[in-house]
Amino acid sequence: MYLLKRARELQQFLRTIREEGKSIGFIPTMGALHPGHLSLVDRAKQDRHFTVCSIFVNPTQFNDPKDLDLYPRTPGKDIRMLASVGADLVFMPPPGEIYPPGLKTGLDVSFGLLDKVMEGEFRPGHFQGVAQVVKRLINLVGPDALYLGQKDFQQVALLRNMVQQLGLPVRIVMCPTLREADGLAMSSRNVRLSPELREKAPILFETLTATKDMLEDFHPEEIEHFALGRLSIPGFKPEYFEIVDGNTLQPVEDAAQTNYIVACTAVWAGNVRLIDNLIWKSPD
Ligand code: PAF
Repeated sequence: MYLLKRARELQQFLRTIREEGKSIGFIPTMGALHPGHLSLVDRAKQDRHFTVCSIFVNPTQFNDPKDLDLYPRTPGKDIRMLASVGADLVFMPPPGEIYPPGLKTGLDVSFGLLDKVMEGEFRPGHFQGVAQVVKRLINLVGPDALYLGQKDFQQVALLRNMVQQLGLPVRIVMCPTLREADGLAMSSRNVRLSPELREKAPILFETLTATKDMLEDFHPEEIEHFALGRLSIPGFKPEYFEIVDGNTLQPVEDAAQTNYIVACTAVWAGNVRLIDNLIWKSPD
């Protein structure tokens, strides 16, 4: 496995790979890897000739500086994990390689309502930061496909929209969320949960699952209200529970009229913010 830190080296190296006729699968990450990330590498390896993974804790997507400071960083372990699943190249740039002085990396893209709801509402500026870094990484890597986890459903929707708007020749592949045995969605933030909160954290997945069947008899708003109550256990503070159209991310008014329904939630467990979602109705 190759480990590169400089943008120019990366571009030169990948030019050769493309000249050899190989297709490139790309997994952008912020490190602190877990099996969920490794499943993205697996999928990319099945689909593509060459798998690139980036590790970069992107400061521009953290609306809360405390969250950026506390974000777990485990570079040595990450590199070993990626080597163990056969990633071909890891790109681990210092900030100056992603945001070199003088280079305009800001984005001139409007996401309409996609970044105004849910994460966008509670983390202002977050998605502009995500889009900025992913666009820059796509420019550097030039991948044929980008592999992203469903846990960040809104992020996937937004990046699909960005790729479409900018006409970038890259496919976006959304891969299923990996879960712990008790249902908690795997996340780099889980290591920050105290043992007591970790034990209760499956409440997110349990609630997303338990409320699904209510859709037949209740209005989405009633279900949201019920779910917020169910999530309000000691130590936990839900921010939102929304039942949305999977394409527009707008609230579902009439479940019978929508063929793509996703329930999404964000909950504070102590000082750790957890998110999760479940696709309740899928067009495929
Ligand atoms: O999902 C993440 O880890 C990040 O938002 C991403 C896509 C790597 C951009 O920094």
